[in-house]
Amino acid sequence: MMVLESGVGNYVSAGGQKYSCFAGNNYLGLANHPDIIEASIQGAKKYGINFSASRLTSGTSDIHLELEQQLATFKQHEDAVVFASGYMGNKILLQILRNEYDAVFADQSAHSSILDAIPRDITGFYFYDHLNIKDLDNQIQKHKSLNPLVITDGIFALTGEIAPLDKLYQVVKNNNGLLVVDDAHSTGVLGDHGLGTPEHFGLGDASRIFQTETMSKAIGAYGGFIAGSKDLTRKIRAQSPAYGASTSLPPPLVSAAISALRIIGEHPELRSKMFVNAARIRAGLNNSGFHTTDSCTPIIPVLFEKQADAISLSDFLKDHFILAPYVSYPVKTIQFIVRITASAIHTEQQIDELLLVLEKWKRKNDDRC
Ligand SMILES: Cc1ncc(COP(=O)(O)O)c(C=O)c1O
Repeated sequence: MMVLESGVGNYVSAGGQKYSCFAGNNYLGLANHPDIIEASIQGAKKYGINFSASRLTSGTSDIHLELEQQLATFKQHEDAVVFASGYMGNKILLQILRNEYDAVFADQSAHSSILDAIPRDITGFYFYDHLNIKDLDNQIQKHKSLNPLVITDGIFALTGEIAPLDKLYQVVKNNNGLLVVDDAHSTGVLGDHGLGTPEHFGLGDASRIFQTETMSKAIGAYGGFIAGSKDLTRKIRAQSPAYGASTSLPPPLVSAAISALRIIGEHPELRSKMFVNAARIRAGLNNSGFHTTDSCTPIIPVLFEKQADAISLSDFLKDHFILAPYVSYPVKTIQFIVRITASAIHTEQQIDELLLVLEKWKRKNDDRC
């Protein structure tokens, strides 16, 4: 494991060396933005590091309310509720919706935060084949007596594939079910305004779709949130043990997120730049004969049949001072993956250097893949 000695920008430092960074989830390049750092310092100066209480007792501050208001405006919803991490969001939502479903149907490659969120008292829990609408429909028909809740990642964390939300929603509607989408990697990324997979598929107003989201990836701050109707957020605030019994989001992070949302609103070109950079990397990989997924997202996996090849490529990149890790968690995959991520702050030159090194590895190892 690499131990960082700097913050995360388009370069990072580790072991006294500087690495060109194509790792992590800093899609819009905001993780180290000077305005966001400054906002976070001001937040710490005014409120300290910790409110030292849960939201329901004495841990709710004016900046929590401001952030929730801004998230609601950004998401074009009535309200939003923030909590300690994106990971918690699926648990919170599945608990709050618990009276409305008896069975959960999850994509085979669902993120571990989804699997951890399945209620213990559930009547049925079934996987459907990855991205396979027909299999989902078959599984739901087999268990026709149960009210279904379908849950999927919006963008899959390792492969960058986009869940076919339009088709999933059709199945859900036909069966009077609910659709939950974990948009951790889609918020700030997909859709005309960065609102995630529902907006990407023109389903922003769909009443049976619920999203769980995070501020720790494209938004560049930290913490989870759920946006929706006032009825939904009221229930979360009143009934969710995970929300009610955890310490409120710390002041520097709340201030950072408020600042990040302003920057995202004022700079839509960050999203365009991220897509241009992702397309440049993807095209380069395809030209060199690597295998990757067919997507537009900033997560660009290099796919291998053999683990040794994935490790060899990641090590080779590291030897050339480029960071793109071999990843084997938190999702089951059939292939071995070097996960490259594009960011709005990557320069063309930096991407071309990455592509050159990839090409060099490919020439050396051509018989392998
Ligand atoms: C699909 C998915 N959901 C949830 C999370 C958790 O989000 P956070 O790191 O903000 O807690 C992640 C993080 O990697 C993720 O990939």
